[in-house]
Amino acid sequence: MSTLITNIGELVTNAPAGDPGPGGPGKYPGEYPGEFSAITGAAVVIDGGRIAWTGAAGRAPAADDIVDARGRAVLPGYVDSHAHLVFAGERGAEFAARMAGQPYTAGGIASTVAATRAASDAILRAGLRRLADEMLRQGTTTLECKSGYGLTVRDEARSLMLAAEITPEVTFLGAHVVPPEYSRDPAGYLDLVCGKMLDACAPHARWIDVFCEEGAFGADEATAVLAAGRARGLLPRVHANQLGPGPGVRVAVQAGAASADHCTHLTSADVDLLAFSGTVATLLPGVEFSCRQPYPDARRLLGAGVTVAIATDCNPGSCFTSSMALCVALAVREMGMTTQEAVWSATAGGAVALRRADVGHLGVGARADLVMLDAPSHTYLAYRPGVPLTAAVWREGRMAAARPEILAR
Ligand code: NIG
Ligand code: FE
Repeated sequence: MSTLITNIGELVTNAPAGDPGPGGPGKYPGEYPGEFSAITGAAVVIDGGRIAWTGAAGRAPAADDIVDARGRAVLPGYVDSHAHLVFAGERGAEFAARMAGQPYTAGGIASTVAATRAASDAILRAGLRRLADEMLRQGTTTLECKSGYGLTVRDEARSLMLAAEITPEVTFLGAHVVPPEYSRDPAGYLDLVCGKMLDACAPHARWIDVFCEEGAFGADEATAVLAAGRARGLLPRVHANQLGPGPGVRVAVQAGAASADHCTHLTSADVDLLAFSGTVATLLPGVEFSCRQPYPDARRLLGAGVTVAIATDCNPGSCFTSSMALCVALAVREMGMTTQEAVWSATAGGAVALRRADVGHLGVGARADLVMLDAPSHTYLAYRPGVPLTAAVWREGRMAAARPEILAR
């Protein structure tokens, strides 16, 4: 069953120049995603859950089913490469206190840990699914999900098992903070994370992450966590340089991490390290917004040649948004990105941060993950901030969310 979406005002493809077109899936697998690229007056054909054809609407091949986009823009589904969705409770009062002048500290994590440990699987699953569904309805078709609010062998393993129910991009974050019961024995907790906890968690995760920060884990500890994870087949990523300058980016680059996330406080040496590495800098502008922190300068990173991704970091503490559209708008307004750069980073950039060649672009053979905006171009994500612009979402070729009242006009 094939579907033709036609009369697309702007089709953002992020496909490499010389996209092979029909018959080309897999021909240039290493080259995806390409730079930001878009076709105006376009059409796309979906077949078998994959992109089968893209090009000028006037030259589109026939398909079993036709959707008229009526001039709207179509983008690759967002790739949210950083989220913490397995938790119980909420921290609205902590947010309000922050807005009244309290600083954000890693200390608030402990209250979510207590609530998460006390929650049943059913409660955790319901919260996780509600957020994942909220993301999908806004156009996020690939998401990464971390543990990190259990911090016992049992609670970390069940967090990962729950996360694996909704995404293959599951990350073990036992090294989030040292839990209260180990406050006098942080070395004992590190042993647990790298030993029994890792044994129980590795089968359920693809990634290992560590919060490398003053008040969480230092450079040597973080390096040990990533090495232990790698020895169990997990790929590294790092929470780096969020609350102040520090060793996080260096640790990430030295470990060959796919991504260093946050990157709020960077030295020139950090920028150089990122530029000459395969490590993506994942910026999380919702965190700066929600913690009233200065935003990192994306121009500085892009100017140095660093690959930049944008993600939400959706979590109950530092940033409780699931909106990639908000993050795109903030990246444009507050971090100096162009609208094209921000959309690329929220789609293709996230895919690179997750080492995925099949998402984040609409080249032939890509997974047919698309978001249709109630707007003629991607620019509107920043031009009309805060407006719910998602008209429809396709995941693996199937319409996964739609607002019929918009599609009908
Ligand atoms: O990515 N930095 C560490 N972890 C989360 C925040 C967790 C929390 O405050 O609950 C983050 O910002
Ligand atoms: Fe995070």
